[in-house]
Amino acid sequence: LEQSVRVSPKGQASYEIEIGAGNLKRLGEIARGSLSSHAKRAVIISNKRVFNLYGERALKSLSEVGFNVSYWLMGEGERYKSIRSLEKALNFLSTNRLERTDVVVALGGGVVGDLTGFAAATYLRGISFIQVPTTLLADIDSSVGGKTGVNLSTGKNLVGAFHQPRAVLIDVTTLDTLPSREMTAGLCEAVKQGAVGDKDLFDQTCEYLLSRKDGEESKEQLINLIAAQCAFKASIVADDEREEINRVDHRSRRILNFGHTVGHALEAITEYKRFRHGEAVGHGMVVAGELSSRLGLLSSLELNDLRKAIKLTGKLPLASNLNHEEILVALAHDKKSVGGSVKWILLEKLGRARIVDGREISSEVLRDALHAALNENS
Ligand SMILES: NC(=O)c1ccc[n+]([C@@H]2O[C@H](COP(=O)([O-])OP(=O)(O)OC[C@H]3O[C@@H](n4cnc5c(N)ncnc54)[C@H](O)[C@@H]3O)[C@@H](O)[C@H]2O)c1
Repeated sequence: LEQSVRVSPKGQASYEIEIGAGNLKRLGEIARGSLSSHAKRAVIISNKRVFNLYGERALKSLSEVGFNVSYWLMGEGERYKSIRSLEKALNFLSTNRLERTDVVVALGGGVVGDLTGFAAATYLRGISFIQVPTTLLADIDSSVGGKTGVNLSTGKNLVGAFHQPRAVLIDVTTLDTLPSREMTAGLCEAVKQGAVGDKDLFDQTCEYLLSRKDGEESKEQLINLIAAQCAFKASIVADDEREEINRVDHRSRRILNFGHTVGHALEAITEYKRFRHGEAVGHGMVVAGELSSRLGLLSSLELNDLRKAIKLTGKLPLASNLNHEEILVALAHDKKSVGGSVKWILLEKLGRARIVDGREISSEVLRDALHAALNENS
């Protein structure tokens, strides 16, 4: 069984996200189908771990359709999503004489995808790239929407470009080797996308989580879930590609930041060591849910459903022993850095977000919500 989702960014060529089980062997065919007939060379960018697992298959598939293929492996981890790695990647492309009509393939998680996409966006002022995401987060989130970039020492994702891939190929069997915490982090983002934008998507995600808990999930169910998640993200992005700063409506790209306000604070006060980003977002969503309920938006029944869904994603690292005052300080810091007040993404109900200005939320309510969310959720 295979699914495909068509993405049509405004004013740019549309492309397909192909989702299947064992379809990595179709990479060559998909590349040929989405690139100009002049494409001769392909460079795969990956890291050692992922390349050892899946590189051979990707190389073979591209060679079989006549590409002259080479590969460059970056370091593993967020800190390698850097200008330094970017420079090495660009030098590799240049040394291998990639031309305007050639292609770069990102094989890996969001770190590899973001760096590769940015290298493709900037090399010769932009060449084609294909995403082959291998983490759940990359499948449903980072490979959809065209954001590419690298970090600076002063902050994450501060340098980048919008650059759409020519195609995205998702082989769900690559998730079989994904460490369980990475899976949990991706599943938290899946819960997020359903919660802010689409009750059916939320329910479908919960059904998958329940089957998984019972050890009865199927590849077909996973393929369908990923397809629905990609379609959702694509629909949000199509309408607000560049995340308009002034948009505060319930379909603005900004709603995808649900759980991120507190999530970032949790990551910051634990020096990015305790939580995977998605795990911190898992806790952050419970806080935002508690806030929504305290402000009379979300019903307690639905808050409970949200909590249950997050619990089903896996065990999140403890947040109960964190100092709430430190969290509040980190939240206030966030506020300064955006030069205004925090825009909280809250829920009116499951499937519908509401953006609320931080000035409308008293510190007392915020403290209560933190307490209720982080202590019980531990
Ligand atoms: N561009 C966007 O719109 C967007 C959106 C969300 C997140 N991001 C970015 O995505 C990055 C996080 O991505 P991520 O969560 O995929 O993390 P990641 O790329 O660091 O991958 C997580 C870990 O899993 C390993 N791995 C990847 N695939 C594997 C597999 N199939 N089997 C075994 N191990 C595997 C990686 O080597 C790594 O150690 C961040 O840099 C974030 O800023 C970008």
